[in-house]
Amino acid sequence: MSFVEYSEFIQEGDVAIIFLGHESMMAVNVQHGAQTQTRYGVIRHSTDLIGQRFGSKVTCSKGGWVYVLHPTPELWTLNLPHRTQILYTTDIANITLMLELKPGSVVCESGTGSGSLSHAIIRTIAPTGHLHTVEFHAQRAERAAEEFCRHKVAHLVTVRNQDVCKDGFGVTGVADAVFLDIPSPWEAICHAKRAIKKQGGRLCSFSPCIEQVQRTCEAMLDQGFEEVCTLEVLLRVQDVRSVTMSLPDFGPDDLTDPAQATSDPAPSNASVTLKTAIPPKEMAGHTGYLTFATKTRE
Ligand SMILES: C[S@@+](CC[C@H](N)C(=O)[O-])C[C@H]1O[C@@H](n2cnc3c(N)ncnc32)[C@H](O)[C@@H]1O
Repeated sequence: MSFVEYSEFIQEGDVAIIFLGHESMMAVNVQHGAQTQTRYGVIRHSTDLIGQRFGSKVTCSKGGWVYVLHPTPELWTLNLPHRTQILYTTDIANITLMLELKPGSVVCESGTGSGSLSHAIIRTIAPTGHLHTVEFHAQRAERAAEEFCRHKVAHLVTVRNQDVCKDGFGVTGVADAVFLDIPSPWEAICHAKRAIKKQGGRLCSFSPCIEQVQRTCEAMLDQGFEEVCTLEVLLRVQDVRSVTMSLPDFGPDDLTDPAQATSDPAPSNASVTLKTAIPPKEMAGHTGYLTFATKTRE
């Protein structure tokens, strides 16, 4: 199993996503002899997982069943061990699109954090691209590097344990795109510029507060970046469902027509069933602002 290549069968050492429902999933490291407890009972890795197809329905010891899914960056984002705040798929989708990432792209990122965005970038730039990710918290850098190995994507990523604001990304003139998710991104804009290719490239910075955005925009413009723009992505999921509505009774169409005037009125319980979209009562609020900019050819 790898996060960038699909495998059919579950093997020892794989990560599998145990899917109990959309709101209830967990990632497990598959190991001979290991067991995973769920509310439907125990899953025994040796007999219930190893050798089974990803996507199978597995019956647990109490008779309930779960699906065992192949990991993807999207599922990983929902199930990863949180070491920091992380980016979610709504922001990630826009970052990937607006940075124009594709197979072969070279990307610089800081901080690595819990690796939520890193996995999505790696999947997009595989099989020939590379991610240079910088994290100044030693343990977080180490844990991320371990996960990239376990997920069989280590050949696509270099993890550097350093301060991006002081030491930059450790590469010069190679990046198609740079992404920043750190508290003071304005201090790293000059390093982002240095990391991006001579032919130019794209930059994005994620910040929760508008004051951070203001300072970042100023630094981007000072460093000669163009097309600076900030956006906030809010997802409004509509619930499409069938509803039954009573038909209003407006009486007969033509009161001057004696035939209609004497005909029976439509039954008062007449109704129609139709599909409609219901807006959410609650929705995820502000996560942060995404500020994009372009470095044009030097
Ligand atoms: C919010 S987390 C990043 C989350 C990540 N984008 C994800 O999706 O999992 C911010 C990370 O940046 C790191 N960081 C903050 N300032 C830094 C700096 N100057 N250089 C390198 N890393 C830094 C922090 O240690 C933290 O792990």
